[in-house]
Amino acid sequence: MLIGCTKNDNQKYDYLILVNKQNKLPADWETNVELVEVQNAYDETIKVEKEALEKYYELRDALLKEWVDIELDSAYRSVQRQEELWKEFEEEYGIDYTKKYVAVPWYSEHHTALAIDICIIKDWVLIYENNDMIAEKEIFAKIHEKLADYGFILRYLEWKEDITWYRYEPRHLRYIGDAKIAKEIMDNWLTLEEYYSLK
Ligand code: DAL
Ligand code: ZN
Repeated sequence: MLIGCTKNDNQKYDYLILVNKQNKLPADWETNVELVEVQNAYDETIKVEKEALEKYYELRDALLKEWVDIELDSAYRSVQRQEELWKEFEEEYGIDYTKKYVAVPWYSEHHTALAIDICIIKDWVLIYENNDMIAEKEIFAKIHEKLADYGFILRYLEWKEDITWYRYEPRHLRYIGDAKIAKEIMDNWLTLEEYYSLK
């Protein structure tokens, strides 16, 4: 598997980076990544990689035209924040559940600032729990259909839990920087792991 060799000369870093249960965040990633800080609609500060944020806003505007309202819920997370999150989940839900929903610190895509968890607003109500989002099939079909046009893919697919080793997360979008590759991945309903193994 070829990992981290997909950066072209015009890119500051590799937008196709694979961070998963086996592949750790490169030690120098956080010093290189260009983070932008924004407030979401609930006045929370969210940090996102600059280009990913620009494309996210384009995606959000396109969806608004179809009456689908999305909002940033979580994007960049430091290793320390991931440690806290892991502990919070473990205390509340136990270790087995935590492993299916939360990455071990250093092994989370959220460290890259290229992963974005969204929430949705439907009939003035905020929907932010993963299971509630899974139930909103029509809305998420519209969201997922548009992702590739803006260089995003869906990272933790339904029926692919034996490849990603995470539960289906309709909200977890991943910016990969190249709309053509994103389209290839989304059209074939691939995980990023499968994309790399087929390359
Ligand atoms: N929820 C994803 C797997 C993470 O914690 O990175
Ligand atoms: Zn996520």
